[in-house]
Amino acid sequence: IGKNIYFYDEVKSTNNIAKFFGESDEEEGVVIIADTQTKARGRSGKPWKSPKGGSWLSILIRPNVPPTHASLITLATGVAVCKTLRTIGVNAQIKWPNDILINDKKVSGILTEAKASFNNLDYVVVGIGIDTNLTMNDFPDELKENVTSLKDEANREIKEKKIIRIFLEEFEKFYNYFKEEDYEKILNEWRHLSKTIGSEVIIHQPLGKVIEGYAIGINKEGSLIIEKNDGSLEKIFAGELRHKGN
Ligand code: BTN
Repeated sequence: IGKNIYFYDEVKSTNNIAKFFGESDEEEGVVIIADTQTKARGRSGKPWKSPKGGSWLSILIRPNVPPTHASLITLATGVAVCKTLRTIGVNAQIKWPNDILINDKKVSGILTEAKASFNNLDYVVVGIGIDTNLTMNDFPDELKENVTSLKDEANREIKEKKIIRIFLEEFEKFYNYFKEEDYEKILNEWRHLSKTIGSEVIIHQPLGKVIEGYAIGINKEGSLIIEKNDGSLEKIFAGELRHKGN
């Protein structure tokens, strides 16, 4: 991972470039990094603000596995980001499915995009956005309460190159566990770093359904297991989660 790194001043979205490489015969492990993005994408089709000062990157990988395994790669990436941020002394935690929080505010997000043919992944693009040296002026008013930057949390300017280098090492480590099919290692680290497991949560699902209960586990499809107030269990594949009391 990261043997070939392409740096850009400005792109629409680093994920787009990585996908373009995915369609070519480029080997896995290529990393695309941009100073700014003009049309970056977040999850659920939301735009993602990417001014200068943040770390915006995408990794192209070619795992030889069925499409259902893509969520494990996203979970592994969340673990890698979280561990990276902890090296600078902040208490980063993962919120299901793949937001990274510090003091309950979002500091990083992951957007995984995959292409499959038949029952095999052609390629996976993992896009990572970290609000490294952003300031609150970089965010629109409606987000200010729920987001933060590494710089604000650590009270100092953060070396962006160093963050990316540590992240790529962590990513490689966890991608290797993935390739060795050591899925429990990834899931256990995820559980350990997650704020969600063991917390009371409310989830707004895509079709307007709301689920409340305790998050008691995660499985290798990336689904969250909720114990509802009536004691029954439910597996959640998608939705917007809030930790109760936040
Ligand atoms: C989220 O909604 O939390 C996911 C945000 C992912 C943003 C990153 S920045 C690098 C890459 N390029 C994109 O267009 N999106 C991802």
